[in-house]
Amino acid sequence: MTDVAAKDSLTVRDNRTGQSYDIAISDNTIAAKDLGQIRLTDDEPGLATYDPGFVNTASCRSAVTYIDGDKGILEYRGYPIEQLADKSNFLEVAYLLIHGALPSKEQYDTWVHEITYHTFVHENVKGFMHGFRYDAHPMGMLMASVGALSTFYPDARNISDADNRHMQIVRMIAKMPTLGAWSFRHAQGKPFVYPDNDLGYTANFLSMLFKMSEQKFEADPRLVKALDVLFILHADHEQNCSTNAVRSVGSSQVDPYSAVAAGVGALYGPLHGGANEAVLRMLKRIGSKENIPAFIEGVKNGNERLMGFGHRVYKNFDPRATIIKKACDDVFEVTGVNPLLEIAKELEKIALEDEYFVKRKLYPNVDFYSGLIYEAFQFPPEMFTVLFAIGRTPGWLAQWSELVQDKDQKIARPKQIYTGDRELTFTASSERWS
Ligand code: CMC
Repeated sequence: MTDVAAKDSLTVRDNRTGQSYDIAISDNTIAAKDLGQIRLTDDEPGLATYDPGFVNTASCRSAVTYIDGDKGILEYRGYPIEQLADKSNFLEVAYLLIHGALPSKEQYDTWVHEITYHTFVHENVKGFMHGFRYDAHPMGMLMASVGALSTFYPDARNISDADNRHMQIVRMIAKMPTLGAWSFRHAQGKPFVYPDNDLGYTANFLSMLFKMSEQKFEADPRLVKALDVLFILHADHEQNCSTNAVRSVGSSQVDPYSAVAAGVGALYGPLHGGANEAVLRMLKRIGSKENIPAFIEGVKNGNERLMGFGHRVYKNFDPRATIIKKACDDVFEVTGVNPLLEIAKELEKIALEDEYFVKRKLYPNVDFYSGLIYEAFQFPPEMFTVLFAIGRTPGWLAQWSELVQDKDQKIARPKQIYTGDRELTFTASSERWS
């Protein structure tokens, strides 16, 4: 029995042996390795926890993002998301996430200059992006091209050097919009547009997406602002699936481009960033308000999933969804109302009153309304998750940077409970098949 002060400890009694153990509690967690001392005999493995999907396991200490899911609170480096969305801009938020504090005027100007200076990509990137099939999904293109950047910057492997890390962080935040826009242009069969460094980050992205023969593409400032807010809302979300992927791959000490490529892959899935695309397809499939009750029945019978609803952490409301609903109004003022909005609002109303959803604490999440805005921008659904990825890049990199400097971190390597056969005798195929 270990000797830990009675307070701030957990006493566990192993009823198999009758032995009790005191395990220290710190930050409302116990160290999983402390359970390892609980064992039947000295030569058997110690007790472990079984937690598919890390539902109740902290994988790191982090000072980047705070979420209180019950109260609907989201803060980046301590600042509430509502204030950042209202008063800041995406590059300032990116600085905050990466550096841990708001920039001075000089720091901000240097940061914006650095990001702007690095928006161009090597010409060979253009070459291999042209090599994708005409109908390649832009997320697949983004994942591949971000990963490929590691071959253009082999020095990025030197992750223990702070200046080097800073260089790769700047490059990646700067180049993601270029890669994202070119994925879009490729799918449209349109020529790639080079960055216009006279424009701000988000305005330049819109220019690379939509510019045709005009000298200069200048998007409506209300749309630029709305997209910038959407980037802020997506900038980080603590240990979500893609961030966990970035951290897990990054824990092998690979370069950050390879780690972020893993994050893009994770984000691609319909249960994560791909949900915004799935919401839009769902709304189109429902087609009209009259079809909503039958659709809801299908969800309750387990034949469907109400995409854009539910969250692992938020069990009251998703603060990002509230801000997005407001951004919807600003965008529709410019573009005209998306007819699917009516179906979405009705669907939300019915679901929020239905016992199935109430009982399970299922509320609209960030993706429920974001797809409607993106469609108003005339993005095809395949592009929605690319927008999410651009917004999430500073968060991934802030978390990666924290990981590589964290002395507690080790290469990610979960345990398993083995359920397969043991000690079979192998017979060669020549004998088995004769
Ligand atoms: N529609 C219908 N039922 C649902 C839904 C939904 N969207 N979400 C959860 N449930 C049910 C689920 O079937 C389960 O019911 P029961 O207890 O009867 O088995 C219960 O609610 C708990 O769900 P869960 O799957 O155990 O919850 P989770 O924390 O593992 O999953 C989630 C969270 C976000 C993957 C899930 O709610 C979901 O699939 N939502 C739809 C996809 C979506 O909108 N994803 C975007 C998430 S926010 C942005 C992001 O992170 O990328």
